[in-house]
Amino acid sequence: MKIQIINGPNLNLLGKREPGIYGSEGFESFYKQLLAKYPEVELSYYQSNVEGEIINKLHEIGFDYDGIVLNAGAYTHTSVAIADAIAGIKTPVIEVHISNVYAREEFRHHSMMAKNCKGIITGFGLMSYELALKSFL
Ligand code: DQA
Repeated sequence: MKIQIINGPNLNLLGKREPGIYGSEGFESFYKQLLAKYPEVELSYYQSNVEGEIINKLHEIGFDYDGIVLNAGAYTHTSVAIADAIAGIKTPVIEVHISNVYAREEFRHHSMMAKNCKGIITGFGLMSYELALKSFL
């Protein structure tokens, strides 16, 4: 089972960035825990702040991986191009968010990509990623 986690813009700052909203744990340490907890999964992680790089990664792995867990950050709300990339690949994508986007500003209530995703998990902190991962197992 090959699963790719993709984090979009500003998520490299997890742990330092607005800890009241996103928590104080960095993604790398959480990812290490995931690797240890799910040794049977071939898990990989990619982060980019660049829209086109996220699209390139979706194209690269989107025809032979079993699942993609995507937190596209603010691109969730703006990117037709990432939404189109998700529509164009075979691998199912689950949209995840650390915060509950529906409890926040109105502009975060709309996802450009949700309709192309298998499902959405929002508001469970870093556990959102684990819930998405488990749904593929
Ligand atoms: C986020 C929510 C987005 O609205 C925001 O732009 C992010 C992070 C989340 O994980 O809660 O960068 O995707």
